[in-house]
Amino acid sequence: MSTAISPTAYNYKVVRQFAIMTVVWGILGMGLGVFIASQLVWPELNFDLPWTTFGRLRPLHTNLVIFAFGGCALFATSYYVVQRTCQTRLISDSLAAFTFWGWQAVIVGAIVTLPLGYTTTKEYAELEWPLAILLAIVWVTYGLVFFGTITKRKTKHIYVGNWFYGAFIVVTAMLHIVNHASLPVSFFKSYSAYAGATDAMIQWWYGHNAVGFFLTTGFLGMMYYFVPKQAERPIYSYRLSIVHFWALITLYIWAGPHHLHYTALPDWAQSLGMAMSIILLAPSWGGMINGMMTLSGAWHKLRTDPILRFLVVSLAFYGMSTFEGPMMAIKTVNSLSHYTDWTIGHVHAGALGWVAMISIGALYHLIPKVFGRQQMHSTGLINTHFWLATIGTVLYIASMWVNGITQGLMWRAINDDGTLTYSFVEALQASHPGFIVRALGGAFFAAGMLIMAYNVFRTVRASNQAEAEAAAQIAVVGAH
Ligand code: HEM
Ligand code: HEM
Repeated sequence: MSTAISPTAYNYKVVRQFAIMTVVWGILGMGLGVFIASQLVWPELNFDLPWTTFGRLRPLHTNLVIFAFGGCALFATSYYVVQRTCQTRLISDSLAAFTFWGWQAVIVGAIVTLPLGYTTTKEYAELEWPLAILLAIVWVTYGLVFFGTITKRKTKHIYVGNWFYGAFIVVTAMLHIVNHASLPVSFFKSYSAYAGATDAMIQWWYGHNAVGFFLTTGFLGMMYYFVPKQAERPIYSYRLSIVHFWALITLYIWAGPHHLHYTALPDWAQSLGMAMSIILLAPSWGGMINGMMTLSGAWHKLRTDPILRFLVVSLAFYGMSTFEGPMMAIKTVNSLSHYTDWTIGHVHAGALGWVAMISIGALYHLIPKVFGRQQMHSTGLINTHFWLATIGTVLYIASMWVNGITQGLMWRAINDDGTLTYSFVEALQASHPGFIVRALGGAFFAAGMLIMAYNVFRTVRASNQAEAEAAAQIAVVGAH
C-alpha cells in the first residue's frame, strides 16, 4: 500500500496529535490536582510565593483538566468519530491543524497567566479577554470543520454520536461568547459586561452548562460511539438515544440557578433551577441505561476486556453523579452541602469517574487504530490502570462525602444560647484525615495516567508512518 497521503483517506494526523496531548495534559492537570490536594494537607507547600498558592493553582488545575485534558479528548474523538461515521475525510486539513495549534496556544496561555494572577475571577471562565477571543476563534473553526464534514458525508443518516458532539460544539460557543462579554481596561484586565445578580446568573448559566454540554453532552457523543464499538454490539435503543438527546439539551440549559441557592437571585429562579435539575435525572439515566444495556449479551467480555470495563464503570459513575446532582439541587439538601467538600466529591465523581474514565477507555480503543496497530502494547497495564483509577476515584469521593457532611453539620450546630457549637478551625481539623485520603486517591488516579503514558509510548514506538497511513486508507474502504 502506498505511503503517500491520499485524499480518500481519513485525516488521522490531527486525531493522533489531540490523543497524545490528552495524555500529556491529563498527567499535568491531575498531577497539579494531587499537588493542590497536598497543599490542603500540608499548607507549607504553598511556599509563601504568590505564584504557587492554592488560590492561583486551583483554577490552573480546573482549566488543565477540563479544557486541556477533557478538551483534547473531545477534539480527538469527535474528529475520529465524525470521519468514520460519515465515511469521509475532514473538510479541511489546515483548519483542523489550526484548531490543534490554537487550542494548545490557549492552554499554554492559561499556564502562564493564571499563576501570575491574571483572571476574570469567573469560575471556569478565568482566562482574560485576549485568550478568550483566541479560544472563541478556535472554537468557531472547530464548528466549521465538524459541521462541514457532516455536510459532505457519504452516509444517509447522521449517527447519533454526532448529534451529541454537534450540540456540545454549538452550545459551548454560545455560552463562552455570551459569558465573556466584557470591557477590557488593559491587555490583562477586563470587567464583565453584566452587573450584580445578572452577572451571577449569566456566570452560572455558563458554569452549569459547561458541566452539561462540555463535561456531559460531548462525552455522551463519545459514549454512543465507543461503547457499541468496544462491546461489538449495536446501541441498545436508537429511539431512546433520540429521546435522550432532545430531553437532555432541552432541560440542562435551565438548571444553572441551583448554583445560586439562597443568594440575591430571585427566589422563583432558584426554584425553577431546582425543579429543572430534578427532572434532569430522567434523561441522564435514560442515556446511562442506553449505554449499559448495549452490553446485553456481551457482559462476559468485561472479564477479559479492561477497556470495556473503563467504559462501563464510567457509565456507572455517570449514573451516580447524575443522581447525586439532582438531590443536591434540592434547596434543603443544598443548605447542608453548599460550600462543603460534598460538592467537591460530587464534582470528582463526575470528573474522574465519568469524564476521565470514558476518555481513557475511548483513547485505549482509538490509539492503536490511528497508529495502525492491532492493539495497545500491554493489556495487563490497561488492567492495572483500571484498578488504580477505580480505587482512586472511590477514595476521593468517599472521603469528600464524609468531610462534606461533617463540615455541614458542624457549621450549623448551635448551642442553646444561640452561639456556634464549633469554630471554623475545629471543622477544618475534623476534615484533615479526609484531605489525606483524597490526596492518596488522587495519587492513585494520577499514577494510572503515568502507566497509560508508558503504554501509549510503547504502542506509538512500535508503529511507523506507513502503518498509520495504511490504517486510515483501510478504514475509508469500510473495514471498521
Ligand atoms: C488526580 C486527580 C485529581 C485530583 C487529586 C484533584 C484535586 C482537586 C482539588 C484538591 C480541588 C480543590 C478542592 C477544593 O477547593 O477544596 C479540585 C477542584 C476541582 N477539580 Fe480536581 N482533581 C483531580 C482531577 C480532576 C479532573 C480529571 C477534573 C475534570 C475533568 C477535575 C475537575 C475539578 C473541578 C471542576 C474543580 C473545582 C470544583 C468546585 O469548584 O466545586 N479534577 N480538584
Ligand atoms: C443531572 C445532573 C446533575 C445535576 C442536577 C447537578 C447538580 C449540581 C449541584 C446542585 C451542585 C452544587 C451547587 C452548589 O451547591 O454550589 C453541583 C456542582 C457541580 N457539579 Fe453537578 N450536577 C449534575 C451532574 C454533574 C456531572 C455529570 C458533573 C461532571 C461531569 C458535574 C459537575 C459539577 C461541578 C464541576 C460542580 C461544581 C461547580 C462549582 O461550584 O464550581 N455535575 N452540581
